[in-house]
Amino acid sequence: MAEWQEIIEKGKSSHKLTHEEICCLLAEPACEEELARAADEVRHAYVGDGVHLRGLIEFSNYCRQNCAYCGLRRDNKNIKRYRLSAAEIVALARQAQAYGYKTVVLQSGEDEYFTLPRLRAILLSIKELDLAVTLSIGERSYAEYKALREAGADRFLLRIETTDAELYARHDPGMSHERRLRCLQDLKTLGYEVGTGTLVGLPGQTIDMLARDILFYQQIDADMLGIGPLVPNPHTPLGDAAPGDWHLTRRFVAILRLLLPDSNIPATTAMDTLKPGGRDIMLRSGANVVMPNVTSGEARRNYALYPGKACVNDTPEHCRSCMSARIAAMGRFVAEDKGFRQRRKI
Ligand code: 5AD
Ligand code: SF4
Ligand code: FES
Repeated sequence: MAEWQEIIEKGKSSHKLTHEEICCLLAEPACEEELARAADEVRHAYVGDGVHLRGLIEFSNYCRQNCAYCGLRRDNKNIKRYRLSAAEIVALARQAQAYGYKTVVLQSGEDEYFTLPRLRAILLSIKELDLAVTLSIGERSYAEYKALREAGADRFLLRIETTDAELYARHDPGMSHERRLRCLQDLKTLGYEVGTGTLVGLPGQTIDMLARDILFYQQIDADMLGIGPLVPNPHTPLGDAAPGDWHLTRRFVAILRLLLPDSNIPATTAMDTLKPGGRDIMLRSGANVVMPNVTSGEARRNYALYPGKACVNDTPEHCRSCMSARIAAMGRFVAEDKGFRQRRKI
């Protein structure tokens, strides 16, 4: 038995791996299929065959931050900025509900136009629809997170991008790694389901750092984990960087499923962008969630984190039936419940 086979067996049965063992799997392309198969089995045993669809509403592409990789960064003058009105956002949530989605994800750049009272009004309207609501709006104060939670927000996504403070400082100028950690802690304290994740392929990122990311997610017991490879955006300082390694990202996600067996893990759009059909492969490599976009028209095109985003020219209706068919084709089904994390005995 190769060393990596023993490590996979250990991860699968004990849900614990050391830093060295994680590095070994990340660095070993030959283990990928077996690792993915083990992750798929753990996914089946802990979260079942239901795939949770979360309707993504990209409601503003304004951002006060300047992340080196992201097309929404404030210095990018090449995109047309937009904001949806409260009425438009609520209408999209209604649309998502009509498609049968049980959760909407409200995502934007860090846009200060959306003050607490504005967000609260939107949340209160959406909560009348009996949908779970996930926010993905970046860093806010404890008091704001608290008020948003009280207005009905159930979950929050805030990727740490990398747990390496120095690498973070290099690619996220003006942002504080410490503050980001505090935000995650605040969200947890307030009873949100907390999602975070890594951007795989940041220049300077090492296997060692990625292994530490994985152990960090296990340590904070993250409820959701969104992992994607870097897709270089020519309108950003990382335009000439190499794309993130798709296969390394797949191994990363599969290891997460072994170590956090009952968490919710999306098959991310960036995985489909670098390899058409990539999300399907991820659903068979540990993932159990997909976030189909319900934003339509110009807004959908202008929410350009990176070029070539999968589905950007498709309609929300088309994605909904496309995704349902893809899920059925792999012998799985669209889950009927809201898809909160169900803690299982590990
Ligand atoms: N490639 C891949 N992912 C990106 N993100 C931002 N820019 C890129 C890019 N060029 C991701 C970040 C952020 C999420 C909303 O999108 O990880 O957290
Ligand atoms: Fe803004 Fe998020 Fe893009 Fe950074 S990654 S520029 S915070 S939208
Ligand atoms: Fe968007 Fe298939 S999911 S076109």
